[in-house]
Order: sequence, then structure tokens, then C-alpha cells
Amino acid sequence: SIIHVILTGGVGSRLWPLSRKSQPKQYLEIFENKSLFEMTVERNSHLADKVMVVGNVDNHHLSGKVMDKTGTGYLNIVEATPRNTAAAIAFAAFASDPDDILIITPSDHIIDKMEDYNKAINEAILKAEDGYIVTFGIIPTKPETGYGYIESKGDKVLSFREKPNQTTAKEFIARGNFLWNSGMFCFKAGVLLDELKQFQPEVYEKSKAVWEANEKGLLNLDLSMEIPSISIDYAVMERSKKIKVVPASFSWSDLGSFESVYDYLLSKNHPVDKNGNMVIGSGKHTTFLGLKNIIFVYTDTANLILQKENSQDVKDIYSELEKIN
Ligand code: GDD
Ligand code: MG
Repeated sequence: SIIHVILTGGVGSRLWPLSRKSQPKQYLEIFENKSLFEMTVERNSHLADKVMVVGNVDNHHLSGKVMDKTGTGYLNIVEATPRNTAAAIAFAAFASDPDDILIITPSDHIIDKMEDYNKAINEAILKAEDGYIVTFGIIPTKPETGYGYIESKGDKVLSFREKPNQTTAKEFIARGNFLWNSGMFCFKAGVLLDELKQFQPEVYEKSKAVWEANEKGLLNLDLSMEIPSISIDYAVMERSKKIKVVPASFSWSDLGSFESVYDYLLSKNHPVDKNGNMVIGSGKHTTFLGLKNIIFVYTDTANLILQKENSQDVKDIYSELEKIN
């Protein structure tokens, strides 16, 4: 079968105070009264025969509500604690037959141009059937350091580099044949597990043990903590020789930080003043005097005023901020 696997482990700490531990960003009904999670389910429902949701003890009830609302049957994979994407994807693969095709997606992206999206996924499924691990390449617009970079020639992947530093990212952009990794993947479950076993045997073995316990209905926190926390990008994508890329012509936005939310809102004609200052979360008139590129995030219980360029730093203060949540 073709299985849509939704990863929903993150808390979206770079989007505090919009995103909270109790209400991570993918469940906020911010667009047309739908959450990004719900939009993810709908976008893929006609592309796959089955759905798996990989989340954790703190959020699986939030996923469950959406799945009930949309009437989608699914396998609920619950993690005792997040152990990063290599493990989360391994659980889904262990839950599948080796020949099942998995379409892995995050639950917090905005995607437009559905025709192009459908085409890209169907193209990826064909390559996955041939035994490849397929990534989706986005044309980069700036030397973003929060993404993976795919050096490519047609659908061939020459190299994959996760989260380069600023200098390297600039070099990649200048060289011109690098695409951003979208964070979505498509492959046969068995192919991914073989690669994981080869490159990260410990992640493979420990995830397998946790999955076997999970299948018996046991959530084992101690055992889970033994899984090395590593993303699929570092664990497999940077090392496998079986990677292909489908260059994506659909429009894609990772609403990971306020800078990307800002760019997205700008493209949707959200108001911004002549000095680049923007209010998010309130229709109340706000004046900025002598300030440039400020983002004012307004919620009922907390506000955040930040310099746009500092968007990545919100993560660092998140744990402090959560105390006054
Ligand atoms: N179930 C589960 N468990 N899900 C997880 C876990 C986990 O332990 N950790 C992360 N996730 C989910 C997140 O909620 C998100 O939907 C997805 O997996 C990717 O994790 P992120 O933490 O958002 O990754 P990233 O943004 O730093 O990087 C990835 O995405 C970029 C594009 O947005 C990489 O694939 C990059 O290469 C890529 O450019
Ligand atoms: Mg992300």
C-alpha cells in the first residue's frame, strides 16, 4: 500500500507565544479555521491508501481530534518521548510491510499549487518503487541555515548537507545547483530501514526494541531514552547513495520561525509599515516609531516583540518563556 506518515513531534518553540507546549503550532486553527495539521491530512488523503500519525503522549489527543473531525482512519503511533525524526520514521517503517511506499510529511507546512504537488508526489512514488529514497527540492531564495541543502543534477543527488553554517549556505546559493530539502520524503519502508541499519545501527536496534514494546501496548520511557536523538537528515540523507530528488514546482513554506511567517504573510498582503514592521495576531492599530523590521506578536496571554533578524533565537528563550505561559 501507499501510506501517508504524518510527523507531529515538534512543539514549534520558535513560534512562542503563538505556539505553546499545550497547543503546538500545527494544531492552531490559524488558516480558514483549519490547523496546519488538518490541512496536511486533507492534502494527502487522495494520494495514499492509509495514514499513520507519529506523535507523542503529550499531543496525540490533539491529533486524534482532527482525525475524528475529518473522519480519517489511521494508525496512531505514540512515542513515550520525542527522539527525533530518524526514530519517528523508523517506527512507521517497522509498522509497515517492507514493500509499502511511505510518504513522510511534517504537519506544519503551507503548500499551494495542488496540481503541482500531486504531480510531484506521484513522480516520487514511481522512483520509490524503483528502490530510491526520494526528497523534494525547493528553489532556495536566501542562505537559510535552518534547512537541508541538496546538491543536484536533474533528479540525481550529488550530495546532501543538513543545516550548513551561514558561510557555507552562501556558497551553496552562489554555486546555483543546490535546492532546499522540503522535509518530505518518499521511499519503500524496507529500503529506508536497510539504510538506517547500515548507517545508524544503534538507532535501528533501539527503535526496533521500542517499536516491539509499543506493539504490545507498552510505552517504555527508559527504553525510548536510549535511542540516539538524531534527525533522518543526518542519519540517512547525508550518507545514503540511494537518494533522488524531485524538484518541486509547488509553492512551499515552512512556518518554522517568525521570519518565515513574516515572509508568508507578506506574500498574502498582510499589512506591514514602510520600515518593515509587522503586527501578527491582532487587528488593533499599532504604530512603530523609529523602529525597523520589528515583529510584534500579540496573543491573549503573552506578547513578543522581536527584531526580525533574531527569529531563530526565540527557540533559546522558549524554556524561560514557558514558565510564564
Ligand atoms: N513524531 C515525531 N517525533 N515527530 C518529530 C520528532 C519526533 O521526535 N522530531 C521532529 N518531528 C517532526 C516535527 O514536528 C516536524 O513536523 C518534522 O518532524 C521535522 O522536524 P523539524 O524539527 O521541524 O526539522 P527541521 O525543520 O529542523 O528540519 C527538517 O525540515 C526542513 C524543512 O522544513 C529537515 O528535513 C531539513 O532538511 C529541511 O530543510
Ligand atoms: Mg521544521
